[in-house]
Amino acid sequence: MAGLERCDLKLSGGEVIDGTGAARMRADVAIVDDRIAAIGDLSSVRAGREIDVTGRIVAPGFVDVHTHDDRALLSKPTMDMKVSQGVTSVVVGNCGISLAPLVMDRRPPPPLDLLGTEEWWKYGTFDAFLTAIDEAPASVNAAFLVGHSTLRVGAMDDVYRAARSDEIKTMRGRLEESLDAGACGLSTGLFYAPSEQAPTEEVIEIARALKTHGGRYVTHMRNEGADVVKSLEETFLIGREAGVPVIVSHHKVHGKDNFGRSKETLALFDRYRKSQKIGLDVYPYHASSTVLKADSIAFSNRVMVTWSVPHPEHKGRDLKDVAEEWGVDVYAAAERLQPAGAIYFSMDEDDVQRILSYPQAMFGSDGLPHDEFPHPRLWGTFPRILGHYSRDLGLFPLEEAVRRMTSLSAEEFGLKDRGEVAEGKFADLCVFDARDIIDSATFEDPMTPAAGIDTVVVNGRIVWAEGRCTGERSGRALRQGRA
Ligand code: ZN
Ligand code: CU
Repeated sequence: MAGLERCDLKLSGGEVIDGTGAARMRADVAIVDDRIAAIGDLSSVRAGREIDVTGRIVAPGFVDVHTHDDRALLSKPTMDMKVSQGVTSVVVGNCGISLAPLVMDRRPPPPLDLLGTEEWWKYGTFDAFLTAIDEAPASVNAAFLVGHSTLRVGAMDDVYRAARSDEIKTMRGRLEESLDAGACGLSTGLFYAPSEQAPTEEVIEIARALKTHGGRYVTHMRNEGADVVKSLEETFLIGREAGVPVIVSHHKVHGKDNFGRSKETLALFDRYRKSQKIGLDVYPYHASSTVLKADSIAFSNRVMVTWSVPHPEHKGRDLKDVAEEWGVDVYAAAERLQPAGAIYFSMDEDDVQRILSYPQAMFGSDGLPHDEFPHPRLWGTFPRILGHYSRDLGLFPLEEAVRRMTSLSAEEFGLKDRGEVAEGKFADLCVFDARDIIDSATFEDPMTPAAGIDTVVVNGRIVWAEGRCTGERSGRALRQGRA
């Protein structure tokens, strides 16, 4: 902006990584209201507040494309676990699980209970949910997916079967209404009991509502083990039939017999990407986490308990140790711990690194904010990619790591005017120290804030500074297609 005389906030002396993948450059950044007003040598611009960020990187705020923060936006509105990592926007409603549209009068079936017990399920329409967030905003922006399992629980008397055509019609109608309210797509969790009986056709019929709204289909696939290729083909078919882009969630291959098969799966991505729009996200760990499930125990080397309703005292312990103490096998112990959650050590580090290195892979945490002893990805994902995988292991340059957590993510999820440090874009920014940024959360001590994140700005307001949340809640509910 030529002739800018005054701005509200100025970040001076830093190195700007703009999020497009371009090399860093020395520049000041001026913010007016909620937008970036100028970038360059701004020494003559007066500022309401100026922060010296010499020696630091100024990047777009990170977009966590894979979250389960639907309820956390309301119950933990300062979102410490995310802003402490430099995250300024989250995509919620993944894996078929969204908090709306659904009203419950009893505990929802797993995995929907990852978001909370019945008192949290009170938004019968998507519009009501988004309005609640407008009225009590969080410190980060959020974009919203509609969960297929949520739709099923709301439309069917029994979810452990295929939906009838009248039920499909109801679900498609609710999806349409939610998209009208501003949701950006449909997610499925075909891996989980409340949706595993859904045939491909059912998903296609519901997903047809997406096309006219510019929505996308996002999926925790039916299988990420022996049948991973079959599941990828199912996913791509759904995208083609519905005529919409697809995004494969937390891409991985798990189970010892499948180690190394990311070569095969990424080749399949390459092949199909020539003729349809396909994206993916990945988290930087070789262990997964969700509700405690027998089939997940079966393919894991080690299982850790993250929460248990009847036995909260066992959180953070190995399932094997609990089982030994009880004198039963791990499956019987798991049964006794229900409802419960777990971490599964079931992947090969080489596969994780190969997928992280794939140029189209976005980064998402898949963090579970209500687990009592959560997987460290909740607090560590983004600094771990920047510090451990980019700087220390050299998997990719810092600029490329930033691109795949900012501009690529904003583009794939339709976040208008975000994900780039450029004049006129929203002032969502993360200032960090490239030399010492690193995750601190571990499997043993999972809720430790990362190091190296200096200042985080959301819509022009500072939400994180000097190692803590400022309490500013300047995030917004991002409605698809609207700025
Ligand atoms: Zn998932
Ligand atoms: Cu998930």
